[in-house]
Amino acid sequence: MSEDKKNQVSRRQFLNYTLTGVGGFMAAGMLAPMVRFAIDPVLQPEAEGEFVSADIAVEDITTEPQKVTFKIDQVDAWYESTVEKTAFVYKKEDGSIVAFDPTCTHLGCIVGWNTNDDYPQHFYCPCHDGLYTKDGVNVPNTPPTAPLSVYEHKIQNGILYLGKAIPREEA
Ligand code: FES
Repeated sequence: MSEDKKNQVSRRQFLNYTLTGVGGFMAAGMLAPMVRFAIDPVLQPEAEGEFVSADIAVEDITTEPQKVTFKIDQVDAWYESTVEKTAFVYKKEDGSIVAFDPTCTHLGCIVGWNTNDDYPQHFYCPCHDGLYTKDGVNVPNTPPTAPLSVYEHKIQNGILYLGKAIPREEA
């Protein structure tokens, strides 16, 4: 057999190569959007620094913790929803504002301010008698092992805006 004959591609081989190439190209074209859709939430950067109005004027915030509600848009993988959140806000003696996430750091129940006559001027969790002082610090020998989380906040046009709840170190 001559050298030329050896290097020639048969019609069958040519068709095989061509169909494999075209088939592979088409399969990649179909699969790419599917893969992209499947992992899209993972590729999205986490929304950072978003603040929403707590619908309360700074001048209406007193030194007594008061409950405010606000709504955030939550994206959980492919599911988007609007969630209502609450916060306890008050002014400290130095005039600075603090906003606590009322989610108990024990097992996630919602605490209340001044709701138990046995513990006036405390945040109280009814689920397992959890207790926090006014500055949100858990009282030793009660179930919670960490202080209440604190919402990031900013003031715009005299209105309080709240951001992410930041957990605090154990007391
Ligand atoms: S959930 Fe609050 S004390 Fe247990």
